[in-house]
Amino acid sequence: MKTYENGLTIRVASNSEDQLKAFLIRGMVYMHEQQCPYREEFDLNDYAATQIIGLLGGEPVLTARVRYFQDFVKLERLAVRSEYRGRGFGHHLIEYLLWFCRSKGFRKVYLHAQARLQQFYEGHGFIRIGRNFRFSDYDYVEMACSIDLNASSPKIGNPPDRINRPEGILELPGPLERPNLHQLIEAKPLPKGG
Ligand SMILES: CC(C)(COP(=O)(O)OP(=O)(O)OC[C@H]1O[C@@H](n2cnc3c(N)ncnc32)[C@H](O)[C@@H]1OP(=O)(O)O)[C@@H](O)C(=O)NCCC(=O)NCCS
Repeated sequence: MKTYENGLTIRVASNSEDQLKAFLIRGMVYMHEQQCPYREEFDLNDYAATQIIGLLGGEPVLTARVRYFQDFVKLERLAVRSEYRGRGFGHHLIEYLLWFCRSKGFRKVYLHAQARLQQFYEGHGFIRIGRNFRFSDYDYVEMACSIDLNASSPKIGNPPDRINRPEGILELPGPLERPNLHQLIEAKPLPKGG
């Protein structure tokens, strides 16, 4: 999870309400603004993806989803609600997504950029690969970005506890990593009448 100076919080959608908020934004941006049919916008891949949600004072303002392949991730459905655009939230979203992919240990990030946004993605280290193509009446360009991993990026051989942690907070130790946890639970007195 990341919180920015402007009050925006971006995190992995971690319950059904978060997911509803993410899907509502996609309905507004892709189905309403960009006239994408429902059955194209929402697909089986939503069950395999990590959904990302951005909140401003509890109000859902942005979303994206991350899909996983053998040695790369694909970023999809990046969307900021129209009334919240032009405030830098798109930049925060792509920064968060790259941070998230690094924290998962991926070295390569791939996306299909709407051609008008090529410069926006280039500013975050993406380069154009492959060819332009047309899809759903928009011009797209394939882009990819390489990530420098650091020592704490997860890999086999790291302490195994870290890989057990929930998505999006892989840097935070969970309660079951505490030593003597069971002794602490057993030592806790039972509530009266229980
Ligand atoms: C693309 C999108 C996520 C950007 O969100 P945002 O919050 O407005 O972005 P920011 O305010 O952080 O600005 C990001 C940069 O992108 C540029 N940008 C945003 N919309 C743009 C557009 N339609 N055409 C060209 N550049 C655009 C901005 O000028 C800005 O560049 P700068 O920092 O050099 O001035 C948002 O416009 C959106 O949701 N669009 C509809 C959905 C969509 O098309 N998603 C992308 C699919 S690849």
